Amino acid sequence: MKKRRIKKQVYVVGVILLLVIVLSIFVIRYFIYRGTNEYKLKKLGYTMEEISIIEKLESDEIHQILAMEYNQIIPKLLKEKYFMIQNLDRYIAYQQKENDKDLTHVVSIVNVNADYAYYDKDVVVETKTNLKNEYLILVNKFHYLNQDYAPDDIVAVRNWYAYGDNEIREEVYEKFIEMYNDAAKEDLKLIITSSYRDYAFQDELWNRYANTSGEEWADSVSARPGYSEHQTGLSLDIVTDGEGGSMDTFDQTDEFKWLSKNAHKYGFILRYPKDKEDITGYSYEPWHYRYVGIETATKVHDLGITYDEYYAYYQNEIEE
Ligand code: DAL
Ligand code: ZN
Repeated sequence: MKKRRIKKQVYVVGVILLLVIVLSIFVIRYFIYRGTNEYKLKKLGYTMEEISIIEKLESDEIHQILAMEYNQIIPKLLKEKYFMIQNLDRYIAYQQKENDKDLTHVVSIVNVNADYAYYDKDVVVETKTNLKNEYLILVNKFHYLNQDYAPDDIVAVRNWYAYGDNEIREEVYEKFIEMYNDAAKEDLKLIITSSYRDYAFQDELWNRYANTSGEEWADSVSARPGYSEHQTGLSLDIVTDGEGGSMDTFDQTDEFKWLSKNAHKYGFILRYPKDKEDITGYSYEPWHYRYVGIETATKVHDLGITYDEYYAYYQNEIEE
């Protein structure tokens, strides 16, 4: 009898012990789970699908999101190809202000700083000119060149290739001639109409536009002094002769069509494309080509983005 009672007691104690262990495991697991990002994100209101997108981020980036209120835009922004975590707050603010714009557009605008006013003195920075690849420098409405900046390998362009006197960086000239010759094989004529312009020239140009047609218009077609890519010696305005060859109608010509398909093979990109005005800050300029070298020109061309967007996204790599 006694033996049976002891056996029963051992059995009860065993069961209780087991229950305590199982319960402890559950409690411990629950507390561990409460510490996970999944739990915290769920508590903020994110769905499991949204959480799986957020959890692909680095841990410090997830913490940034955990510090914010639930926002259904965040997982959507994360799916954007050119999303950059450091711009998250600005994407959200810009999207709220301009809620008719799709998120791809919002990301592009913010990445290139165009959510700020052009030439905003708190945002503009001097262009980094000491890059590993000197042909990649960025000049736009937020990146300026010093008044004294001038490339040191400028060469004169033969009048054969240009209207009026022109100068351009040596490698750009070589690549232009290659491009000119290959276009000529197809009976196409490329003519340079503007190239290297120094600070003083651009100052004169912008002021002339502003005095005749007002600052707003001047800003849409011309860079302010120090902010023109022409000061880099890497930009060329290209037109052709004959009917339709002028700047405004250049995109109707076979030369333009040829350039659209081939310019990148010589290292040139169309710098101010159509429908990208709010990214570049300039009206469409079918004539303005920028030399960045074949590798980068091909990437920019194939990605179908502006150079401003390209530079913003690959800035660390370009400036390393
Ligand atoms: N027209 C271009 C934007 C310039 O002035 O540099
Ligand atoms: Zn130009």
